[in-house]
Amino acid sequence: MIHVENMSKEFISPKKYPGFKGAIKGLFSNEKVRKLAVDDISFDIAKGEMVGYIGSNGAGKSTSIKMMTGILTPTSGRCTVNGIVPYENRQVNAANIGVVFGQRTQLWWDLPLSETFSILKEVYNVSDEDFKKRMEFLQDVLGFDQFIHSTVRTLSLGQRMRADLAAALLHNPKVLYLDEPTIGLDLVVKDSMRQAIKHINAEYQTTVILTTHDLSDIEELCERIIIIDEGKVIYDGTIANIKDLYGKRRSITLDVKDIQVLEEVNYYDAFHVGEEQLVIGKDQSSITFNFDRDVLNISHIISKVMESTAVRDIKIQDTQITEIVKEIYKHGI
Ligand SMILES: Nc1ncnc2c1ncn2[C@@H]1O[C@H](COP(=O)(O)OP(=O)(O)OP(=O)(O)O)[C@@H](O)[C@H]1O
Ligand SMILES: [Mg+2]
Repeated sequence: MIHVENMSKEFISPKKYPGFKGAIKGLFSNEKVRKLAVDDISFDIAKGEMVGYIGSNGAGKSTSIKMMTGILTPTSGRCTVNGIVPYENRQVNAANIGVVFGQRTQLWWDLPLSETFSILKEVYNVSDEDFKKRMEFLQDVLGFDQFIHSTVRTLSLGQRMRADLAAALLHNPKVLYLDEPTIGLDLVVKDSMRQAIKHINAEYQTTVILTTHDLSDIEELCERIIIIDEGKVIYDGTIANIKDLYGKRRSITLDVKDIQVLEEVNYYDAFHVGEEQLVIGKDQSSITFNFDRDVLNISHIISKVMESTAVRDIKIQDTQITEIVKEIYKHGI
């Protein structure tokens, strides 16, 4: 469905100088700065896949999405979406895609939502029957009947985002691009957005590309992630695989009868490990070991603690994808 081949985007902008004097100087200077925002990326995404497109701020995510949606033309390389080059055939491409940019709305500010939907129906040539069916479906999952007659400018963020998603789905696009669709949303609205995305993917095999800093969105919706860093693809694979590769750490929390007696035990000596491999945290009644699973195992830890005191409860946590990704953003792959 999506084919990206050695795609790059370089921005050239006038050099900026600091301060007011600098601004004046900038007016008369011809100096330019180049920024390679996307650097030779390639991947393929099949019909019906839901892919998380992640990376730190400024990594080049939005720029790539803008090229895939036809807003920007690559400096080199190319991409096709459903066999069409998006930036060369913007109109044909528009009929195939739906886009939600969480940072700004695609809706008309001064129109009631109901009218916006009617206009979109005409723009995208949706039949009466399809329109009715889809509106009912979207209304069911996203629930916007309470504000369907309000003008867009009066909607709350959560209401507007639901409306934005509905608007992007009205013409049943083959590909849905979501750039931070749940930013600033409360948990309930976030969940209904996710449910809606899941529904349309299951029902219509809609291909979804999701960019977000909220990795729980990704875990909930995507099996595959593409990580981009300084414009380059540094990981393309499943979440399960990256957890296997990098999820070397594990946490276990033991709720104990007597936390005081544990003060006397030196676990680093007992297990012959350093602070690199084991981090210990305590609170009033529990002790947490965060450890490298290559050098320590859970049964060791439990039996060692039980030598000193009774254990009332045990909680084991696998490495969170958030932790892994944080590490990757910081130190590379
Ligand atoms: N129109 C532009 N002109 C010049 N530089 C730009 C332009 N758009 C983006 N950039 C630069 O390209 C780089 C990538 O930006 P992009 O918006 O793609 O990042 P992002 O991954 O979406 O980040 P974020 O998570 O912050 O949204 C940044 O350094 C940005 O400053
Ligand atoms: Mg962005």
